[in-house]
Amino acid sequence: MANPSPQTEASTPPRHVAIIMDGNGRWAKARGLPRIAGHQRGAESVRRTVEAAGELGIDFLTLYAFSSENWKRPPAEVGDLMGLLRLYLRRELARLHQNDVRIRFIGDRDRLAKDIVDLIEEAEDTTRGNGGLTLVIALNYGAHAEILRATRALAEEVRAGRLASEDIDEDVFARQLHTTGVPDPDLVIRTSGEQRLSNFLLWQAAYAELVFMDTLWPDFTKDSLREAIHEFHRRERRYGAT
Ligand code: FPP
Repeated sequence: MANPSPQTEASTPPRHVAIIMDGNGRWAKARGLPRIAGHQRGAESVRRTVEAAGELGIDFLTLYAFSSENWKRPPAEVGDLMGLLRLYLRRELARLHQNDVRIRFIGDRDRLAKDIVDLIEEAEDTTRGNGGLTLVIALNYGAHAEILRATRALAEEVRAGRLASEDIDEDVFARQLHTTGVPDPDLVIRTSGEQRLSNFLLWQAAYAELVFMDTLWPDFTKDSLREAIHEFHRRERRYGAT
């Protein structure tokens, strides 16, 4: 639905929305443009969506910017994606900070270039005290790796005698994940018509509503986000009635 009723917007927004941004390549291909053009337009959608999320009263927005599987893409495209991320962080940090946005990164930093790790740390340190929207950027993120890392850390605690295995419950486990301190997503959106989670937030999205949209990521607007939230509320109301 393109124009959700005012009633929808008045409902409490989902606290945490996570997005698998997909379809940049197809957007470019449909226009006879190189894939980088799709990623560039995708970065503009990121800017728009962060602004829209704040305006719609969302507290946490997680964006899947680069998966651990994305390294398999041609080196030139990996370079382009990292370049866009650099540009985004350099250009947007001051404005995001001004708008009280807190930035966090999840994913494995080991394989990232030193200057990107520096930018990530700068963004996190600068915005640590902000109380508005929390923007979580998943970069070199994979849920399997995240869960294995948490398991190893807990196994080490048990081996060292600092933790009893029977004390490992969901809270103890979740505290070892990259997302510690971030509530689980209420709504996961994937654009471009694909209907998979692709190793994204597998632990955290256990109870999330999944909304798949045909819109390609570069075409995603504030109205697209409203539409997904509308669907989220529609499902909530339906379950409430049974
Ligand atoms: C999927 O499109 C999208 C990505 C691989 C990553 C998303 C990256 C951006 C939006 C650009 C920069 C990010 C930030 C945070 C500034 P695809 O290439 O898989 O599309 P396709 O499936 O149509 O080929």
